[in-house]
Amino acid sequence: DFELNKTQELEGKNILVTAGATIEDIDPVRYITNNSSGKMGYSIAKESALMGANVILISGHTNLSVPYGIKEFVRIRSAKDMYDEVVNRYDNIDIVIKAAAVADYTPQKKADNKIKKSDTDMSIALTRTKDILKTLGENKKHQILVGFAAETTDVENYAKTKIQKKNLDMIVANNVSMEGAGFLSDTNIVDIYYSDGSKTHIPKSSKCEIAKLILKNIKDKFVK
Ligand code: CTP
Ligand code: CA
Repeated sequence: DFELNKTQELEGKNILVTAGATIEDIDPVRYITNNSSGKMGYSIAKESALMGANVILISGHTNLSVPYGIKEFVRIRSAKDMYDEVVNRYDNIDIVIKAAAVADYTPQKKADNKIKKSDTDMSIALTRTKDILKTLGENKKHQILVGFAAETTDVENYAKTKIQKKNLDMIVANNVSMEGAGFLSDTNIVDIYYSDGSKTHIPKSSKCEIAKLILKNIKDKFVK
């Protein structure tokens, strides 16, 4: 029961969570997406609400239902849609947790009609999307910024570089090619890196347990 289990650890905090996969349309019947299931982000949204926060969940594609207790749920399709929804709300947010897997590239143009095949090979011209988290980092005032890093190699190195480049307070890094970790799994194995150089390891646990630990670490480190 939600009300019985609710605590006040994040009472009154405005938390924006992004989750799931973005979809970049090629034509009316085809698109580019990724393997994100949304489970990690939805678990964080749910646990934040249980800890008393006002939660806005901005979600790309998932097969999940909206967690109970969320204040506002916004469904988006593309990286551009997510950018607009996140940036517009940024001023009123205390903590941003960017668990979404955002497309780095999108088709240069979406074809109005279904693209017909020909006898030759084809390629699709892609253009870079805007980096949402980097934009937030560049405009950071009072906000706590938490990123995710999905890697298949050199996890620590890439994660630490992302903290610097995006002006983050912390990043949750996972090796998505490891057994028991990553996008489609119900469990995850993560390392949390902080801007002060410290690190917390979370061994293989359910995404729900990991969400609780991520939020506990955010609270202990950054919330008075
Ligand atoms: N991110 C974002 N906007 C983008 C791309 C990524 O906000 N256009 C965010 C993700 O939500 C995540 C963090 O940046 O919290 C790191 O994403 P990741 O894909 O691991 O890193 P990138 O910076 O995109 O670098 P690369 O994919 O080359 O590793
Ligand atoms: Ca990326």
